[in-house]
Amino acid sequence: MYYSDELIEEIRAKNDIVDVISGYVRLQKKGSSHFGLCPFHNEKSPSFSVSRNKQMYYCFGCGAGGNVITFLMEYENYSFLEAVQALAERAGVELPKMEYSKEAKEKADLKATLLEINKAAAQYFYVQLKSPQGQTAHRYLTERGLSEETIKAFGLGYSNKTSDDLYQYLRKKGYTEEQIRQAGLISTDEKHGVYDKFWNRVMFPIMDANSRVIGFGGRVMGDAKPKYLNSPETPVFDKSRNLYGLHRARTSRKPYFLLCEGYMDVISMHQAGFTNAVASLGTSLTTGHASLIKRYVQEVYLVYDSDEAGTKAALRAVPILKEAGIAAKVIRMEPYKDPDEFIKHLGADEFEKRIGSARNGFMFGLEILEKNYHMDSPEEKTAFFQEAARRLMGFEDELERNNYIEAVAKTYHVSAESLQKLVTKTAVREGMAKPVSRPKTAGETKIKKEDARKTSQKVLLTWMIDEERCFRAIREFVGPEDFTEPLYRTVAELLYRQYEEGKLNPAEILNHFQEEEEHREAASLFHTRIRELTTGQEKERALKETIRLVNENIIYIRIKNLPPADMAGLQQLMNEKRNLSEIEKLHISFD
Ligand code: GTP
Ligand code: MN
Repeated sequence: MYYSDELIEEIRAKNDIVDVISGYVRLQKKGSSHFGLCPFHNEKSPSFSVSRNKQMYYCFGCGAGGNVITFLMEYENYSFLEAVQALAERAGVELPKMEYSKEAKEKADLKATLLEINKAAAQYFYVQLKSPQGQTAHRYLTERGLSEETIKAFGLGYSNKTSDDLYQYLRKKGYTEEQIRQAGLISTDEKHGVYDKFWNRVMFPIMDANSRVIGFGGRVMGDAKPKYLNSPETPVFDKSRNLYGLHRARTSRKPYFLLCEGYMDVISMHQAGFTNAVASLGTSLTTGHASLIKRYVQEVYLVYDSDEAGTKAALRAVPILKEAGIAAKVIRMEPYKDPDEFIKHLGADEFEKRIGSARNGFMFGLEILEKNYHMDSPEEKTAFFQEAARRLMGFEDELERNNYIEAVAKTYHVSAESLQKLVTKTAVREGMAKPVSRPKTAGETKIKKEDARKTSQKVLLTWMIDEERCFRAIREFVGPEDFTEPLYRTVAELLYRQYEEGKLNPAEILNHFQEEEEHREAASLFHTRIRELTTGQEKERALKETIRLVNENIIYIRIKNLPPADMAGLQQLMNEKRNLSEIEKLHISFD
């Protein structure tokens, strides 16, 4: 940690959350809260609330929430430190100079330098495109239908025909050969010495979510090979954690992204008004991409090329997205090759229609599968349904599985009951424990248990935060040490201390989580889900159940860790377990 807890809390407290958020969102006072349109998802009526009392915000629509630091992290895509620094400046709080270790400083300096070099190179390419020597390149882009506005918005450029002019330009700006090499902009060989990596190409600067240039793609203007040359991975360019177009898509306020394959596809879609389009950077979609996407949207429409490679890539992307909790749909571009060509021929309205008729990722998979079977042969048709049944078994959730069984039955004109029977039969034959696509291992069952444990601890904490009454009741049965998840335990310790001192301050608790993922997770605890249960009785029952779960879990762990011969210890724990029935007598009035 760079700054003391006290300093961070001072900075947070000096930036009133209503004032800060008002700079971004138009807020209206309603009761004790301020309401506005949520900046984190697309909505027409305001469900985004900011509380001056709690110094917290929360969106009832999408669940985004946190304190003033969280807000800047989410909205501006700042790290914790960047958010604190921005707020310090806003409130006129002087920060001590940061003490970096020598190594950390060198690393940070190198990254900053590489970003500077990339920025200078992008500007250079842009100027070339607008100069006489860039005429051909400029015409190429115009002929592909790009407007001046689009060229500017994406900072497109041109690397000209001389062999080392970018290198010379950057050297004159004071960068060393080594630095320019590390930025991936030059190569060396024995015969020619140092030369520019990009030569006579149209240049596409690649930007991160904060619009900083991190690399380049360069396209030949004809049919020469390779068609595209891309920057190598560098300390600032990680292909599997960045998406082309993200810096613009993230503020599009649409609840989904259009994910495509090419730079030109992204640009065409943006130009046609689909500003939520992004592309992976010449690589197939990774889990890194998926978790990056998850930060902005919960749904992705795949707009891959119509050829076999594009179809395969889409089929591969669906489970990667699903794993990250993102729903995937597939849009087809037939009879055209890709979204760029589609839009050029049929325009934005037709594209919008394709979005409307997008296929669910699973159904799309079946459609492709179907092509391998002669459906008018009874034998092959049966084989197709057997494979479909096998895939349907992959849905662990019963409701979800049944929904899909219904959808498949409807699409392929068979009765839902007979398909249901087939799925059950397949499940029995193949052994319930191992769905074909994803065999379940002992490890996975363990993960399930851990998930359940985490969830009950999380719910309990959420309730304790939400209402002091809950806290008083729960405290009888659960202490901070009963939270086995390290993050939850830290929150619990802070929370118990705050209640003991008589001043609940949720916004302060969040100060303690500075790493992005942790901060997000901690912030999610303060999203008061308790209100979703309607009657007081329901709440009470659910609360008791949760207290029981957390306690049982603790007792279970203690029994497991008991020396085998410790009969007295075991007896004691069994008694404790029996005493859990006391929870039933607990009375908490929610009404
Ligand atoms: P246009 O042909 O100009 O319309 O480009 P595109 O964006 O439609 O490209 P395409 O669909 O052929 O390829 C998709 C993406 O794969 C491109 O945007 C590049 O990121 C990458 N790519 C394509 N060709 C090459 C290549 O030859 N080398 C490398 N490294 N990447 C390529
Ligand atoms: Mn194309």
